[in-house]
Amino acid sequence: MKKKVGFVAALMLVGIVILSTRYYEVDLPVWHFLGGGKGLDPTSLHLRGEFVESNLGTAEGPGGSLTVRMIAQQYDFVPQCVVVPAGVPVHWRITSADAVHVLSFLGTNYGLRALPGVVTEATFTFPRPGEFKIPCHEVCGPGHYAMRGQLDVVPQAQFSSLSPGERRSCEPQ
Ligand code: CUA
Repeated sequence: MKKKVGFVAALMLVGIVILSTRYYEVDLPVWHFLGGGKGLDPTSLHLRGEFVESNLGTAEGPGGSLTVRMIAQQYDFVPQCVVVPAGVPVHWRITSADAVHVLSFLGTNYGLRALPGVVTEATFTFPRPGEFKIPCHEVCGPGHYAMRGQLDVVPQAQFSSLSPGERRSCEPQ
């Protein structure tokens, strides 16, 4: 009897892992079939809407407010490196192109959950300049442990002196 319970538990665990890491192949079609997911389509993020590539990274809005837009996908972040000024509230809008990912900003208490079909929002202020690794903190598939991005927090004056391209992302250009 005990063995049976263990076997069923193991089966359920495998099922949960499959559902959570293959979300876009299993849950999503079911979700669409049931009439859900009227918002973002994770499979066409790069084609239209807010998360097209030219709109990703750090952008200045009206009144000088800053917004970072980012996509988490198996197994990287787009953009891979983001730069923001220190001591300024920065708005984040992130989504996932496939599975559930979690961005954890190492050395801080900040974290963000990226979900397919949903925009996750948060406002963070990084008080001091520094480089923060952003490892993915949710098992999202076989490449999970290599999935990491970077955040460069720079002094405000340095941020102001960057070109628009350099502000958008600190990926090598
Ligand atoms: Cu993405 Cu783990």
